[in-house]
Parts: sequence; structure tokens; C-alpha cells
Amino acid sequence: MDTLVEFQNVEFEYPEKTFGLYNINFQIETGKKYAICGKNGAGKTTLLRLLMGLEEIKTGTIKIEGQELSKRNLKEIRQKIGFVFQNPDSQVFSASVYEDVAFGPRNMGLEAEEIDKRVISALENVDLVEYKDRSPYQLSFGQKKRVAIAGILAMDPAIIVLDEPFSNLDYPSKSSLKELLETKVIHKGKTIIFASHNRKLINEWADIALFLDNGEIIYSDIAKGLVNIELADKYLGPL
Ligand SMILES: Nc1ncnc2c1ncn2[C@@H]1O[C@H](COP(=O)(O)OP(=O)(O)O)[C@@H](O)[C@H]1O
Ligand SMILES: [Mg+2]
Repeated sequence: MDTLVEFQNVEFEYPEKTFGLYNINFQIETGKKYAICGKNGAGKTTLLRLLMGLEEIKTGTIKIEGQELSKRNLKEIRQKIGFVFQNPDSQVFSASVYEDVAFGPRNMGLEAEEIDKRVISALENVDLVEYKDRSPYQLSFGQKKRVAIAGILAMDPAIIVLDEPFSNLDYPSKSSLKELLETKVIHKGKTIIFASHNRKLINEWADIALFLDNGEIIYSDIAKGLVNIELADKYLGPL
């Protein structure tokens, strides 16, 4: 089995020292799906930010495809990881939906024709082609989220990271987004890492669950086996 991501003895603290991640050790294998679980404030988003190189670690190493994450190779590594932020306003910023989705492929240095092909195909996949010339600011929260997902599809990265994919969505938007993610992202054999405290979703999507509590990984196991255990009851609530 190929190791795609490796955290070795990683330690991190926010500058104000209000919160940190300690003794973080885990590996992500190619093609598997990982749930980062834990209650609000456990450190899930922080862990994902470290993986994207958005925060600087204090000690330890993070390796992506065997290459150590550092300032030097940040740009290259970010192209391998598609990150869907919890709040799409953090990542949707261009003048038009088209430009937003084209941002990633353009950064990859692809030819104009290839960029256009990818952008249109990604927008078709999220059902937003007719919105391509609109400003992303005029879209609803759910639509912005789909633009962000299209941007990731257009880059076709090795790893897709989703931070609480369904937060702040009403039931209809949530179920249509769930179907979209399942048909276009989750069941495509890609390596997926998602942060969630939704036990049902973890059971449905994840192969492996990593439990975070207070900045430490307290448990990791096959997600399907977590259905009945005490820990899942304690941190995620009843199924
Ligand atoms: N930029 C930041 N600076 C300082 N503290 C932060 C920052 N972002 C998050 N935190 C704190 O780190 C802790 C973990 O947050 P987070 O990783 O967002 O948890 P989760 O995603 O599991 O809810 C929280 O106590 C939060 O207040
Ligand atoms: Mg979070």
C-alpha cells in the first residue's frame, strides 16, 4: 500500500498559544477515505490546515508523496491537495465563476484549451455551467460551495480534503450536495480526507476514522467498526 501523506511527531501551536496539536502521528494510504472526527474545537480544521501548509509546525515532519512539506515546495504540494473549506467565502474570490474554477488549472501551467475543457466539464459536474459568467458573490452559500468543488475537480488533485462539507446548509442543499459529492468525488477511488462530527456520514464514507480530542489523536480505527463503540457514542452521539 502506498503512503501518500505522513505526519511524524508533529507539534503545532497557534501564536497566542491558546491551542495546539501534539504528538500527531498518522499515515494516509492512497485511495482510502479518512474521517477526522471529534467535537467542536478538537482541532480538526487546524490539522487540515497543517496538511495544506497553511500553518507552520513547531516540530516533526509532514510528508506528501515522500516529499517533506516546506516553504520551498508549498506551491507544488498545494496542487496535489484540493481543499474544500468549510466556508466557501474563504476560497471563492474571482470576478466570475469561470475564472474562479480556472484559477487552479491556470496555476498548474496548463494550456488554455485544456483549462477551458476542464473548467466547463467541472461546471457541468456541479450543474453550474449557466452561471459561468456570474460573479461568485451573487451566489448562494450552497452554490459557492459547488463552485469551490468545481475548482477542485478541475485540478484533479491526488488528495481531496473536505472540511465539514455540510455545515450551514439546509436539508435540500445538503442532500443535493451529498449526492454530488458521492457521485463525482467520494466514490471515484480518490484519496479523501474529511473532517466531520456526523457519525452517520463517517460510517457511510470513511474507511478509517481518526479521533481528535483536545489537539491529540486519541484513537484511529476502521470506521465501519466504530458503529457501536463507546468512543463514537461519547464524541459523535448515537447513530
Ligand atoms: N487562527 C487561530 N488562532 C488561534 N486559535 C485558533 C485559530 N483557529 C482556531 N483556533 C482555536 O483552536 C482550537 C481548535 O480549532 P479548530 O481546529 O477549528 O477545531 P475544529 O475544527 O475541530 O472545530 C479552538 O479552540 C479554536 O478556538
Ligand atoms: Mg473545524
